[in-house]
Formats: sequence, C-alpha cells, structure tokens
Amino acid sequence: MKFFIVGSGGREHTLVWALRRSPLVKKIYSATTNAGIRSQTIPANLSGSGIESIVDFAVGEKIDLVVIGPEQPLVEGLADALVRRGIPVFGPVQKAAMLEGSKAFSKEFMARHRIPAARSRTAETAEEAFSLIDDGEFGFPVVIKADGLAAGKGVVIASDAAEARKAIADFMVERTLGGAGNRLVVEECLVGRELSYLVLSDGHSYTAMPVAQDHKRAFDDDKGPNTGGMGTFSTPGLIDHELERTIRNLIVEPSLNAALSDGFPFKGVLYCGLMLTAEGPKVLEYNVRFGDPETQVILRRLDSDFAEIALAVAHGRLDQVRPAWSGDSATCVVLASEGYPGSYPSGRVINGIEDAEAIDGALVFHAGTKLDDSGRVVTSGGRVLGVTARATTLELASELAYKAAGRIHFEGMHFRKDIGRMKASN
Ligand code: AMP
Ligand code: GLY
Repeated sequence: MKFFIVGSGGREHTLVWALRRSPLVKKIYSATTNAGIRSQTIPANLSGSGIESIVDFAVGEKIDLVVIGPEQPLVEGLADALVRRGIPVFGPVQKAAMLEGSKAFSKEFMARHRIPAARSRTAETAEEAFSLIDDGEFGFPVVIKADGLAAGKGVVIASDAAEARKAIADFMVERTLGGAGNRLVVEECLVGRELSYLVLSDGHSYTAMPVAQDHKRAFDDDKGPNTGGMGTFSTPGLIDHELERTIRNLIVEPSLNAALSDGFPFKGVLYCGLMLTAEGPKVLEYNVRFGDPETQVILRRLDSDFAEIALAVAHGRLDQVRPAWSGDSATCVVLASEGYPGSYPSGRVINGIEDAEAIDGALVFHAGTKLDDSGRVVTSGGRVLGVTARATTLELASELAYKAAGRIHFEGMHFRKDIGRMKASN
C-alpha cells in the first residue's frame, strides 16, 4: 500500500518509522526536507504548497492513506479535501479540528456538553476582555488565551491585572499573533499536576494510548523558558487505574460522544491536555493530533502494526484491531540548537547519529535537520533530534537515551539532563 505523510518534524519521522515496520506498507511519500524522513520516504513532487497540491498528488498516485501529523493542515481542512476526493485519511475533518483551532469553540463545546474544564468567558473585543479583568471574576492569577493557533505562544498566565491587561493589549491591540488574537478566552487558573491523555478514535470506538510525560521548560529542574518540548518519557503505571477510569468516563467518552452528536465524528488522535485538580481532572485544551515529542516515546512502546491501526481509524473499524502496548519504558531526549527556544543558527553539521543508534534499544528521530549541498546532515530547526531508547525499565531507557545522546555532536547543542529522571513534572 502507498502512504503519504504530511508534516516535517520529529513526530512525523516517528510516524514514518512506525509505518515502515508494517508489511502492509510498500511506499511512503513525503514533501519535506527533514533528512531523517527523506532517507526513509520517496520525495513527492507537489505542484505547489497548498492543500490542493497534496490532494492532487494523493489522487494521482492513488495513495491508500494520508497520515497528517500537524494541526495546521487539519484546521485548514486538508482531511475534508482528501475525503471529498475519496482518499482515506488519518486525521480529523476541519470541524473536529476546531477543538484545537479555536479555544472559544472548544470552551463552548465543553460547557455545552458538561465536560470538566476551567470556568471561562470569551471576549470579542479588547474592551470586553479588559472589563472581565476589572470585574475580577476569575481572581488572580488569571489565564488569557488567544483563540486561534499560536504554536504555543497563545497562553499567558497573568499574576495581576497589569499583566493581564498587557497580554490582552498584545493579542488584541498590537495583534502580536495576527488573526489568532481576534478573540480571547479569559479563564480561571487551575492548580495541579498536568497530564496528557491521548486516544485513537475512528469516530465511533476509541482506544487509549500509554501516558507520556512531557518536559516543556528549556532547562533542568523545569527552569527556564517554555519550549515545544525538551523530552518525554513513558512507563507503565504513570497513572493509576482509578484515575484512568475517571478520565475516560468524565472526559474522553463525553468528548467523543459529543463530537459525534454535534455531527463531526472524531477520527484520528484526540489529545486531552489535563490538569489534575483537587476537584478532579479538568481539560486545559484539546489537541487534534499526536504530541511532539510524546509520539517518539508512545510509538516506541507499540508492539502492533501501526499501519493497520491507522487504516482502521480511517476506515471506521478500530473495534477490529487491538493495539498491543509494551510493558517496556521509553525515553526521548531532545537535542536543541544553540539559543533555542529563542533564535538559533542553522546549517551546523551533525555527527554521531549512527554511533548513537548502535546502542541497543536506541533510535534517533530527526526533528529539525536537512541535507546540505555536500550531502551532510545539518541542523535546520530549534529542536534538532529526538534521541530515544526503549528498555525494560525507565531507568535503563533513560540511561541508554543519554548514552546515545552523548555520541552525537553539533556546535552549540544543548539538552536537558533530567528527562525520565523526575516523575511528576512538566
Ligand atoms: P494550552 O495551550 O491551553 O494547553 O495552554 C498551554 C499551557 O498553559 C498548558 O499546558 C498549561 O500549562 C497552561 N494553562 C492553560 N490553561 C490553564 C489554566 N486554566 N490554568 C492553569 N494553567 C493553564
Ligand atoms: N508536546 C506538546 C504538544 O505536542 O502539543
């Protein structure tokens, strides 16, 4: 069968790796310069950069499944456009993708379906937002969220009215995030431990994936600025059965049922970003795709055929497959460029990837790399590589991931030293 992967980061390289392990997969096409993905896929000659060029390619090549990694094309309606032309797709249609694409939409959805979440109000204008702050309805700290996609830059936790007013002015008056700040959500600040709970759904049935813990801050001990994710780990027993049951009963099932009854059965990955509060788990946000770098550890624990699962999701027969998840653990250490998450150089030569992968259980996924004119693998992003290892215990997986990371070098490279070594963090 022929597959097409949309996206260009570490998550997508991991998806390609997982697909290639399947005997069902004969060809995978991609249109990215990511050196890891390029080495494992066939370059797709697209006629342009928009959605239509992907659809035309998929139709022309009679692609059996398009796997969409990132949120942006989902929110732009790529899945709808493919389905209209008869191409099976792994990823939700636009209406469902709005659960991530619009915070106002997702808050209204959760409120209407009584899914536990922070109390909030949506403001259409800066005046409305300022008055919500002046009324002090949510106390302080208060959370200000831009409505649209903002690549992780759309949420401000403001400790007082001045900070809140500044965030509102930035988003709505200065328009620092462009159209993503046309509307704002103002909400109460929840306190607790954060947890990502991801499920696969074909619109009718669903199956949960193992829980992965992300480390979002740039430096050890959760210090420094927020990033896209500096590493992850996944190990059995991260949450207990009782909590898992609560999350499924109060959040996952009501969300999927609500999507169905609202007319947009959810197909793909529903990623519930949760806060475990004293009153129970509450939704912070939905994402409508795999997490990055959560995918790197979650899929390393999959012992079943991912292509078969992805096809079952697309064709609405997920109830006929039973993914087997390993009792092993996995750790992913992200190697980042000098200066990341601020501005960073690119084009730095990367050495040692093969040596790293010679370590038993280690695999390196490319996030921000490309080939230079002489065919060398060089950096081309903030997060450059995800060095993963799978082993019988979390301690061993982390040890092996760090041993592998130690064999890789590029100028200015930095990474956290405590991934998988502290449990309850973010
Ligand atoms: P979101 O994009 O909505 O997940 O927000 C990004 C991050 O902001 C989350 O991972 C949380 O750490 C934090 N956050 C979002 N909403 C809240 C909230 N209501 N209370 C506390 N923290 C929040
Ligand atoms: N690692 C967080 C995300 O993918 O949204």
